[in-house]
Amino acid sequence: MLKDYRILLAACVIAVGAMLLSIAKLVTPGYKAHQKAYAKLTGSTDFEIGVKQINVETKAGLLVDRCTTCHLGAANADAAAFDQPLRTHSEICPGLAEQPHDLNKIGCSICHEGNGRAIDETDAHGHFKHWLSPLLVGREAQASCAKCHYMGAGTLLGAETYLRGKELFVEKVCYACHTIRGLSDGKSAPELTDAGDKFTLAYLKESIVVPTANLATSTMPKFNWTQEADTIAALAIFLKGQRLNKLRDEASAPIGMLAAEQTFASVIEPSVAAGEALFKGAFSGHLQLRGGCINCHAVKNSEGLVQGGENGPELTYVGRARSAAYMASHIRNPKEDALDTIMPPFRHLSDTEIDSLVLYLQSLDYTLPRTPEPTAQALFSNYCMSCHGQNLDGNGSIAALLDPLPRDFTAYQFVASYKDRFVNSIREGVAGGAMAPWQNILTEEEIESLVTYIVSTTEDRQSRFVRMDVSLPKPGDPERHRFRDETRTLEAGDITSGQDAFQKFCASCHGMLANGKGPNAYALKHPLPRDLINKKFLNQSSVTDERLYRSILLGVAGTPMPSHDHLADQTILDIIAYLRSISRDTN
Ligand code: HEC
Ligand code: HEC
Ligand code: HEC
Ligand code: HEC
Ligand code: HEC
Ligand code: HEC
Ligand code: HEC
Repeated sequence: MLKDYRILLAACVIAVGAMLLSIAKLVTPGYKAHQKAYAKLTGSTDFEIGVKQINVETKAGLLVDRCTTCHLGAANADAAAFDQPLRTHSEICPGLAEQPHDLNKIGCSICHEGNGRAIDETDAHGHFKHWLSPLLVGREAQASCAKCHYMGAGTLLGAETYLRGKELFVEKVCYACHTIRGLSDGKSAPELTDAGDKFTLAYLKESIVVPTANLATSTMPKFNWTQEADTIAALAIFLKGQRLNKLRDEASAPIGMLAAEQTFASVIEPSVAAGEALFKGAFSGHLQLRGGCINCHAVKNSEGLVQGGENGPELTYVGRARSAAYMASHIRNPKEDALDTIMPPFRHLSDTEIDSLVLYLQSLDYTLPRTPEPTAQALFSNYCMSCHGQNLDGNGSIAALLDPLPRDFTAYQFVASYKDRFVNSIREGVAGGAMAPWQNILTEEEIESLVTYIVSTTEDRQSRFVRMDVSLPKPGDPERHRFRDETRTLEAGDITSGQDAFQKFCASCHGMLANGKGPNAYALKHPLPRDLINKKFLNQSSVTDERLYRSILLGVAGTPMPSHDHLADQTILDIIAYLRSISRDTN
């Protein structure tokens, strides 16, 4: 009993205390103390205590700014020794004889955001939940220069961090996926022209560091430099500066260009050196967007030293695996070869630049030393692991960004015929995705040993494999009647019936459009449903009607692709006809 009484008493004391505190806050707003201190420090006798307000006329309407209610000394050169919030503003444009902005006229929130109307510190600084524009502190305020200044070209004194962010937007290849009008036209990601109107600085930083924070299925690469605080800050400040709602239009904007625009030394003749420069992001000048492949692709030099990102396959071997024409067309339009790739198209590169990139890729000559003879495991680690994973489970360091995903060998139930298929796939690659042909890099013996290695790690599963021997039925075949209807013989596949059947039995995983993105697709374990309109995949010679028939009837062992042995042979023939009709080039 006694204990309960004490708790009650303590609660009452706390409640009354809190009430008194909030009343005190209402009666004496914080700004009065600052104003009294300022009056005392400046020795002014006629200082009027009260809310100070600056009205700024802008294109978007009247902006009310009461920040100077507390920040009294910002425009007073004699207040340099005072404590905040009373101190003289630091130089916004260091080095200029006279600061160009009159803080008594434009106030503070125009650059620092926050909430200009508020006179309470927390509210004014915008530090409350869901406020879209919390205070931009120090150099973060550079995100606001573009509200008035035209930043399309040149250099603005005092906006160095913003301009560094702009360079980084190019250097780190953001431009290739994201559009910012007037700067880039990437089409594979949300437009960022008005990122500053829509997002807080914190959100922008988070989107760069953890792309999946707001969208679990984000295909935005996770970059390996995202621990560099300065880089992130500059990029985010630059993006925060992207606005559609400007305070001045371009014509009336003060230009403030203090340095001539740099220009890119254009490539005149294709060369390995120019290719290497482009690969590493040969960028200079604020309007020239060039290359930057190294943010996604690593390469090894002749000594085997690796350099580069992990958002795409290592390209050390691609110059030997692929033809020059393949590489050139892949750089211009990667979707032509890999429909669902995240690699952005580099259509703006000139022929000379593309040729240089190809020459550079062809110049890479590292091969795993052949003496002493490498083990299959060593071959696998060097050539295959980044995709197929250390444990052969298809979960290599770059796997998540690929579509189709690398094969998970641990899930496979192997039969003899898979060995041939695998040898063939390694030799010639699998069209329509990232699995390259290795015949020019690996010897036949090495390929054989890799397949043995892959298969041997899951040997125990082989015994569990049960499979009927099935073969593709031919229309009119007297031996193969319609399933559950012995009276009629099979006809050639019908596209329309095939489409209906596909919507009924297959669309949940493969999607209504057959692009592999059905509602159930992402709930599946590795690998995802195949994109069946991927022409390169479906039209390669190894994907015969026979194989399609077997895969549909029996499923694909070790993957979520289920068997459909409840379907009539006729239905499967119809579906195959449908798949051929949507995947074949019609022109
Ligand atoms: C009620 C008084 C008050 C008002 C109103 C106020 N501030 Fe402040 N401000 C302060 C104080 C006090 C500090 C110093 C805080 C500190 O040092 O922790 C400060 C600090 C700052 C800083 C530096 C922050 C930092 O972390 O270095 C900026 C920038 C700033 N204010 C901008 C503004 C802007 C913009 C407005 C108007 C939207 C505004 N303030 C309105 C009291 C105020
Ligand atoms: C033209 C844009 C602009 C305006 C207007 C502006 N600031 Fe700043 N402010 C900046 C920039 C940029 C910096 C960072 C300067 C630096 O890097 O030292 C800054 C820095 C600051 C700082 C922290 C740095 C320091 O030296 O203490 C405070 C506090 C601050 N501003 C307050 C204000 C207040 C209060 C007002 C309104 C009277 C105001 N600012 C108006 C751009 C602006
Ligand atoms: C509210 C609009 C506005 C904002 C925001 C603004 N400026 Fe200005 N700025 C001006 C105007 C107007 C002038 C021209 C002043 C004049 O003609 O004397 C100017 C002039 C300048 C100049 C001098 C240009 C020259 O050629 O002499 C520099 C440098 C500059 N601003 C830098 C900045 C930086 C850095 C920022 C962001 C931190 C910024 N400004 C934010 C309006 C703005
Ligand atoms: C391979 C293409 C690709 C590249 C390269 C890329 N992004 Fe993205 N980015 C995306 C996609 C797709 C999304 C949308 C999904 C999401 O929200 O993550 C996105 C989202 C964002 C968002 C959040 C936008 C919103 O609407 O929520 C920001 C900010 C962003 N990216 C910034 C960057 C920056 C900065 C870079 C360069 C360092 C970059 N991106 C490089 C594809 C890319
Ligand atoms: C945002 C990351 C990203 C950027 C930037 C990027 N790539 Fe890619 N690239 C990929 C991915 C992922 C793949 C694998 C899927 C595919 O084939 O498109 C790939 C595949 C390739 C391939 C085909 C490899 C093969 O064997 O099939 C080539 C060649 C290539 N990239 C060259 C380049 C060049 C050159 C650049 C710079 C101009 C570049 N990439 C920029 C992500 C990127
Ligand atoms: C750039 C990533 C990448 C690298 C490197 C890579 N693979 Fe693949 N691999 C894939 C992808 C993606 C698939 C799935 C292709 C598909 O099904 O469309 C695949 C599929 C396979 C398959 C199954 C093919 C089939 O017919 O089902 C085999 C076997 C294979 N890879 C072996 C290897 C070997 C051996 C190496 C090393 C010499 C290697 N891979 C290197 C990405 C890669
Ligand atoms: C439970 C989800 C699911 C359903 C339902 C499904 N599939 Fe699949 N399908 C998959 C997955 C996952 C793969 C990828 C397996 C792989 O990479 O080989 C796949 C692969 C395939 C392939 C490629 C096979 C090969 O040999 O490489 C074909 C063709 C295919 N599906 C057709 C169909 C058709 C037709 C239907 C309907 C009768 C269907 N699928 C129903 C999940 C599904």
